[in-house]
Amino acid sequence: MTDTVLRVDSSAPLATSTSRALTDRIVEHLAPAHVVTRDLTASLPFVDADWVDARLVPAAERTPEQAARLQLSDELIAEIRASDTLVIGLPVYNFMLPVALKAWIDLVARPGETFRYTSTGPEGLLSGKRVIVAFASGGTAVGSPIDFATPYLRHVLGFIGIDDVTFVTKAEMDADPKRPFRPFAGPRRRPPEPLPGRS
Ligand SMILES: Cc1cc2nc3c(=O)[nH]c(=O)nc-3n(C[C@H](O)[C@H](O)[C@H](O)COP(=O)(O)O)c2cc1C
Repeated sequence: MTDTVLRVDSSAPLATSTSRALTDRIVEHLAPAHVVTRDLTASLPFVDADWVDARLVPAAERTPEQAARLQLSDELIAEIRASDTLVIGLPVYNFMLPVALKAWIDLVARPGETFRYTSTGPEGLLSGKRVIVAFASGGTAVGSPIDFATPYLRHVLGFIGIDDVTFVTKAEMDADPKRPFRPFAGPRRRPPEPLPGRS
């Protein structure tokens, strides 16, 4: 079966972007694959009061307005569900994620859809996937005390059930182009368990 790769870019510059060049190279290495591209700089909305309320209403009980409010979030989650591998471009902005990438996270981390609370704590619902992150910075090194981006991204991806996360820099890719492409052993696209009270 051909893998489905979801490529997510979040760098503002197009032609000169280091992270976009790196996501290009990573996606090339994953061929043959069905590649879906989501460019986050094409204006994702921030979540607002209507969105926050709508996400807590069970699907069958939502008003048409509430369903419409969640439509983009539903689409973004469906893109992740349908993918085996996510390739995420991560340019470091002010020691953190660019706001476009954070806006995407706010739209896809949804209770009852990508995580749920259980008696033993939160449980991520998007298992069986891997993420390769194309990391670009002007000097902030991965894992350094001022790198707030990679620990956060690893944590929030784990929160929604994706624990297989690899960070790659241009220097690492140049030195060992095969490094991020070890065989992926995880069960792919395991369907989420049914949620009580949800269709
Ligand atoms: C708004 C902004 C904030 C930045 N903040 C940081 C930073 O905190 N640390 C750092 O090392 N580089 C920082 N940089 C530099 C970028 O991380 C660097 O240019 C990187 O290549 C950006 O990725 P891109 O080329 O894919 O856009 C910043 C750049 C911009 C535009």
